[in-house]
Amino acid sequence: MKRLVVLVSGNGSNLQAILEACREGRLKAEVALVVSNRPGAYALERARAAGVEALVLSRDGRSRREYDAALAELVAAARPDRVVLAGFLHILSSVFLERFPDQVLNLHPALPGAFPGLNAIERAFEAGLDQTGVMVHRVDEGVDTGPVLGVEQVSIHPEDSLESLTERIHQAEHRLLIRCLQEELSDETSPAVRLG
Ligand code: GRF
Repeated sequence: MKRLVVLVSGNGSNLQAILEACREGRLKAEVALVVSNRPGAYALERARAAGVEALVLSRDGRSRREYDAALAELVAAARPDRVVLAGFLHILSSVFLERFPDQVLNLHPALPGAFPGLNAIERAFEAGLDQTGVMVHRVDEGVDTGPVLGVEQVSIHPEDSLESLTERIHQAEHRLLIRCLQEELSDETSPAVRLG
């Protein structure tokens, strides 16, 4: 069984999609650990309700590199095959990424190259486009950059409100994330995680 660590900051609907896919056997994996950088994240409750260990690691005045080193220790102890950023509002530095080469995936509610960073759905809606989308990519040190693993287009309808568009985007995210994880985890042996 492949092992996932999921990093979160908020609601955790994408974490929920992963937990359900694991439970239903659509994903041959288990969530070994959930870590939030925000104590109040609802995602923590979702994890615990599913019987998954859920920890908070706040930055608490640490430098980014100090925080990333502490986070890497926590994550490495869970021996993940993949680390999934599912609404994790923190930009990881090389201190973390070099510990898990090619193993860190991020989900972003926009198409590659469009609307990196916060409020991507709102910015796509306000731009008056008729097409946006969601993507999953490997994480590099940029903001929502790195090799793209999958994309799903989402139409913006003339009658859409920001709320209706947001709802459709989230549905697309839940589908795409599971599809990309299925591909990532299919017939490969677990890469060794560098501990220590
Ligand atoms: C998602 O839109 C994700 O793409 C973005 O943050 C949001 C998290 O939603 N990075 P949730 O916490 O999984 O419900």
